[in-house]
Amino acid sequence: MEGCLGFLFLTFLIIPLPHYFIFCTEHIDSEVRCIDSERHAILKFKQDLIDPSNRLSSWAVDGDCCHWVGVIYHNLTAHVQQLCLRTFHPLGGFESEEQYEAYERSMFGGKLNPSLLDLKHLNYFDLSFNNFSTSPIPEFLSSIKSLTSLNLSNAGFVGVIPHQLGNLSNLLYLNLKSSIFPGLYVNNLQWLLGLPLLQHLDMSGVDLSKASDWLQLTNTLPSLFDLRLSYSQLPFIPPTLIVNFSSLLTLDLSENQFGNTLIPSWIFGLCNLVSLDLSENYFQGPIPIDLQNMTSLRHLDLSLNNFNSSIPNWLYSFSHLEFLNLRYNNLQGIISSAIRNLTSTFSIDLSENELGGKLPRSLGNLCNLREIKFSSNNGSQEISEILESLLVCLSDRLEILRLFNSQLYDHLTDELGLFKNLAVLDPANNSISSPLPLSLGSLSSLGYLDLSNNLFNEIVPQNFGQLSKLHTLHIESNMLEHYTKIMEGAISKSHFSNLTRLTTFFAFGNQLTLNISDMIPPSIWNLSSLFIYLNLSHNQINGEIPNNPSILSTSSVIDLSSNHFKGSLPYISSSVIVLDLSDNSFSKSISSFLCFKMNDSKSIGYLNLEKNNLSRKIPDCWMKWNSLVVLNLANNNFSGSFPTSIGSLTLLKSLHLYNNKFFGNLPSSLRNCEKLVIIDVAKNEFVGSIPSWIGHRFSSLMILNLHSNNFHDHIPKELCALASLQILDLSHNKLSRGIPGCVKNFSAMATKNNSNPDMSFNHSNYYVGETLPLESELLVIKGKALEYSTILHLVKCIDFSNNSLSGEIPKEVTSLQGLQSLNLSYNFFIGSIPENIGAMGSLESIDFSMNQLSGQIPSSMSSLTFLSHLNLSNNNFTRKIPLSTQLQSFNALGFIGNKLCGLPLSNNFTINDVNPDKENKGSKHNGGLEVDWFFVSMALAFVVGFWGVCGPLLLNKQWIIMYFQFLDHTGYKLKSLVLL
Ligand SMILES: *[C@@H]1O[C@H](CO)[C@@H](O)[C@H](O)[C@H]1NC(C)=O
Ligand SMILES: *[C@@H]1O[C@H](CO)[C@@H](O)[C@H](O)[C@H]1NC(C)=O
Ligand SMILES: *[C@@H]1O[C@H](CO)[C@@H](O)[C@H](O)[C@H]1NC(C)=O
Repeated sequence: MEGCLGFLFLTFLIIPLPHYFIFCTEHIDSEVRCIDSERHAILKFKQDLIDPSNRLSSWAVDGDCCHWVGVIYHNLTAHVQQLCLRTFHPLGGFESEEQYEAYERSMFGGKLNPSLLDLKHLNYFDLSFNNFSTSPIPEFLSSIKSLTSLNLSNAGFVGVIPHQLGNLSNLLYLNLKSSIFPGLYVNNLQWLLGLPLLQHLDMSGVDLSKASDWLQLTNTLPSLFDLRLSYSQLPFIPPTLIVNFSSLLTLDLSENQFGNTLIPSWIFGLCNLVSLDLSENYFQGPIPIDLQNMTSLRHLDLSLNNFNSSIPNWLYSFSHLEFLNLRYNNLQGIISSAIRNLTSTFSIDLSENELGGKLPRSLGNLCNLREIKFSSNNGSQEISEILESLLVCLSDRLEILRLFNSQLYDHLTDELGLFKNLAVLDPANNSISSPLPLSLGSLSSLGYLDLSNNLFNEIVPQNFGQLSKLHTLHIESNMLEHYTKIMEGAISKSHFSNLTRLTTFFAFGNQLTLNISDMIPPSIWNLSSLFIYLNLSHNQINGEIPNNPSILSTSSVIDLSSNHFKGSLPYISSSVIVLDLSDNSFSKSISSFLCFKMNDSKSIGYLNLEKNNLSRKIPDCWMKWNSLVVLNLANNNFSGSFPTSIGSLTLLKSLHLYNNKFFGNLPSSLRNCEKLVIIDVAKNEFVGSIPSWIGHRFSSLMILNLHSNNFHDHIPKELCALASLQILDLSHNKLSRGIPGCVKNFSAMATKNNSNPDMSFNHSNYYVGETLPLESELLVIKGKALEYSTILHLVKCIDFSNNSLSGEIPKEVTSLQGLQSLNLSYNFFIGSIPENIGAMGSLESIDFSMNQLSGQIPSSMSSLTFLSHLNLSNNNFTRKIPLSTQLQSFNALGFIGNKLCGLPLSNNFTINDVNPDKENKGSKHNGGLEVDWFFVSMALAFVVGFWGVCGPLLLNKQWIIMYFQFLDHTGYKLKSLVLL
């Protein structure tokens, strides 16, 4: 028995996911005939199963039952003994989306037919990794008394685990692991009393928080040697042991977030324990000294806790330890050279602690080591010294070396080439400098190489010699100026041509100059056709991308943004999902790009062509681009009307056409894009009235920006149905008549809380693994045009300025209590300010200037404590400005041009007659950028005044930068920043 278990555990340790010792292999004597009743039972069972990929086609009525997939018979009696209906699921996770999709397609579902009860000799039943979604575990299973092994892990069952399972008194193996939330749960654990023979129990992911009867269960499972209760939502570690002390060999209590609770002493009494996993529990304090008696441990995982001691000396005496994970704690001090005593160690992970000093040389004496992970600690060391010490006996063994962010310096030496089995080398984020040794090219097993964020200034092609297994290469954020050499290498037959598996290449953020057209043009792009991820953004690459259909043919994510590419846009294949070509100099028409292979379906979800010199009309070719979620064509020179095929983009959430020369009506087909969250068509030449369907169709719309177009007619009251709307900018158009009273229905603006955070604006959520730029919007708030991005989801504003709106300001506006900025300036509003304006407690900016408003300034306005920008100038207000610290602190210029008196206006302030001709207000053709110089000085006064008055609530980084630029260039620059 002893020896047998020992053998088993070797298997367990290397393959963490449990797979019991019975494997479904067909070893059937062809003489054996199946038993008729069992044969019928199985066929009946099949009827209720959903089998989308027809895996059970061999289970045919007239088929040879000896060859029925997954059914194993006794070799003498012919009774069905085993049913193995597990769906293949790789241990280390899926390697590709295709593999995952294949898995999803082959999962069984449906119902379990009780005909199974006719299989009187069934002892092994494995249904793992299937999709019996949302149904409970059928109770009848507990009547198959012959079962010794039952595996329902990740089979999709939910609800309470039937206590009848306690009738399966012959069970040796029970796996109920669940990864659905909320999935399975228990009310109590009494039923375990019925399973005295159980050896292996996995209830990871099962909600055990309601079980309160642990105390009554001492030594309930005397034969258990493997207990796994990971992610079981236990509020504390159960105070007593349901198992026999000396029989337990593996215990997994990870991911329960026990936090401050103490580790109960019975755990440390498990002196035969071979594997202990307490990771991700946020335990505090030092690594418990009581662990020191557990010297049989081969596998110890204490990662993701808050242990804050040094690594205790006794730990180094664990001579059986094969796997040690202390990652992500607050461990301090240095690593002792006694680490040489961990002679069995196969994998050591000490990353993300506060460990100082050097990696001890004695590490190199651990001849069984395959994996060293020491990223993100406080030591500081020459990288060459580490390599040298590891040479002692690891040169042909080490597979993984992760030294990310460890303050390493100096350069990689030629000895690197001796680590023949190295598959992962990650010395990123250090201060390692050139040269890179040529011997790197002889690491024939290397698949992952990350040299990013170091000080390399040259990488030559020979560096990459024979790296035929390389799939991921990061060289971004170095000081590479000799990029040409890399690319030459990339295409030279003798060197980079070996990199046939390279699928991920990141080189952004180097100070590179490369003129592609000067160099061997198409071959670079032929190479790029190998890449799945290609990121060359933020360099200074120029030249044209040749328009050859094979180019970029397998890539999924291409980011060439912020370079100097010119010429036409490259064709893309159907595999591209993310394409960012923004901030380049691509010019000419978009026609061939858009209409290339017009009938081929595209997968692209994210297309960013912002800030190029693209021009002319956009052809009607959007039909097959219907996966698009984000479309950004802003800041180009497109003209013409927008084509109707935009209506095919039914998944579209974000549409940016800002600052082009589109004209005509908004295409009515846009109403099909019902998922839109952002519509920004500002600064174009669109005409017509604002379509009323905008209000009916876009229930998720958060931003509607139509400013600086030629929209006329009234503001349709249908817009009021946009309950999610937070930003409404209709300024600089030709709108007339009044503001509809129904604006009070803008519920997102009426509430102060923000129900809808980043989710809508962070598209990286959709494209896992990709860092996509956040959504941003240029908004004029507090008299300044600023780009908002990180806090965009918090902004709530209305801008109706520079139209021909008239009538009174409806008092319903005051129910928009979440609104931060209200700009009604440059219109023809009459009447008085709604008395109740003080209820709009979130207002930070009010601009009612240049209207014909009259009456008194309502006293409630003095209760707007967040208000930091107020402009009421050039109306017909009369009487005294209400007294409050708030209103008097604003600059007098915000009140001039009225018949007001009182502070902040001084008595001899005689500027009332300055009243610029209203017809001469900012020109619409340049979006109102032209500014009357009197108001420029006024705005400057506001900005300076604001800074001293009130804490800036709408701050972000760009804001600060813009603000200081503002102060630096008060002359010419001011014109472009101040929009009144
Ligand atoms: C049947 O299987 C048992 C156990 O697997 C084996 O020992 C025995 O030799 C087999 N008998 C025949 C006839 O194959
Ligand atoms: C550890 O072993 C020592 C010596 O054998 C013993 O005195 C002590 O009680 C043990 N500690 C635990 C927690 O079992
Ligand atoms: C390491 O092993 C040596 C030799 O066996 C022994 O003298 C020393 O005490 C051990 N150190 C630790 C910390 O276990």
